[in-house]
Amino acid sequence: MLRELIDNRAGEEYDLYAKTINPQFVRVLRTIGFDRPWARGEGAYLVDADGRRFLDMLGGFGMFNTGRNNPRIREALIEALELDTPGSVQLGVSTLPGLLAEELLRLAPGSLGRVLFTSSGAEAVEAAIKLGRAATGRTRVVSAQHGFHGLTLGALSANGNLEFTDRFGPLLPGFAQVPFDDLEAMEAELAREDVALVLLEPIQGKGVVLPQAGYLEGVQELCRRYGTLFCLDEIQTGLGRTGRFLAAEHWGLEPDVLTIAKSLSGGYVPIGACLLRREVHEAVFDSMEHSFSHGSTFAPNDLGMAAGLATLRALDEQGLVERSARLGELLLELTRPLVERYEVVREVRGLGLMWAIEFGEPESRRRSWRMLERAQPGLFAQLVVVPLFSEHAILSQVAGHRLNVVKALPPLVVTEEDVEHFAAALDDVLARAERLPRAMMGFALKAARAGVAAGR
Ligand SMILES: Cc1ncc(COP(=O)(O)O)c(C=O)c1O
Repeated sequence: MLRELIDNRAGEEYDLYAKTINPQFVRVLRTIGFDRPWARGEGAYLVDADGRRFLDMLGGFGMFNTGRNNPRIREALIEALELDTPGSVQLGVSTLPGLLAEELLRLAPGSLGRVLFTSSGAEAVEAAIKLGRAATGRTRVVSAQHGFHGLTLGALSANGNLEFTDRFGPLLPGFAQVPFDDLEAMEAELAREDVALVLLEPIQGKGVVLPQAGYLEGVQELCRRYGTLFCLDEIQTGLGRTGRFLAAEHWGLEPDVLTIAKSLSGGYVPIGACLLRREVHEAVFDSMEHSFSHGSTFAPNDLGMAAGLATLRALDEQGLVERSARLGELLLELTRPLVERYEVVREVRGLGLMWAIEFGEPESRRRSWRMLERAQPGLFAQLVVVPLFSEHAILSQVAGHRLNVVKALPPLVVTEEDVEHFAAALDDVLARAERLPRAMMGFALKAARAGVAAGR
């Protein structure tokens, strides 16, 4: 049935989407030439209707760590369907959720002892906020400026970016944002001893901002001192992304709460999880009366659980966490020389396969650069992303609104050749983009007028 439906409407997908779902998004895609008719996804590649293969350095905003349509995960899903598993009894339980929870707790820091499944990342953050408040009897939540934790109202209240929060207020009371990497500012908030939860990404996804040495350990220590729960949002950094199963391992962190989602189901089924210190969970689910204190109809569901178990197995059997560490090193090695080679490149940074390149005003061609920045801050990054796509068949993203940063979150199944291809393509694009030729400027200004949005 699906084959026929898809084939019958081939070529109409963008019009249909514009008419029924989001016309402004389709306008953006058309303006930057990203309106390809996609036919298939396969590992680290997307294949268009003409059979052209695009290297996917965006990775669905980090939801395809195990590669698109990973055959092992697909098999597990088919098996789960064929088994007619008795999931979501609601007044009863099945085996798969407990098995996935057991595996996650085995892999997570020892401080964590319970799992609360959700259907998305934002929902895992909502759970962290709600349960954190109830467990501590406090109401305030402190997060970081430029942090991103999802777009539902609670998670949005912890968001440190005006372009996401503006227009949607009033947000929840009791939220404060402090500069990332600033322990003094964090202590000033926590010393009031009314903060339930500190919510931080170990590496900020927006812009790929790595913490200074000692920062995360320092926040954890402040949380302990002032009776605040330390919550790491690993929705983007988790599941091997940074070269460890969880980024927390790089700093030996023992959080009280930790959120994951995205790649946990191999990109197949909406999923999320909030891992909690056992005492935190028990402080909320403290009686039979409170056994339903939080949840949602689809969480946990057996397809998500089957995909989750298969994803953990695929990460392990395919050695993807080590691969992320190794290929991330290679990517840095191949792209760091761009800082010396191009005036416009300020920094190349990353950990594992979470990578970014930042641009800044070059000494020469200042006038053109400033014209671009006036039209729309961060537009130069768009001038890199567009030819990477149209000329080199590489899908990448700008790392955030008004940021001159291009970011990569490729599936961890990328090969050395893919990484080399990306680095060479970037070199080629920068050689031209740095000169800010007239044709590029014209395109950029048109894109700015269309209000081309950035990703996360
Ligand atoms: C760090 C972080 N937290 C939370 C979220 C929200 O997850 P979801 O989009 O599944 O709601 C994201 C999504 O990009 C994220 O990167």
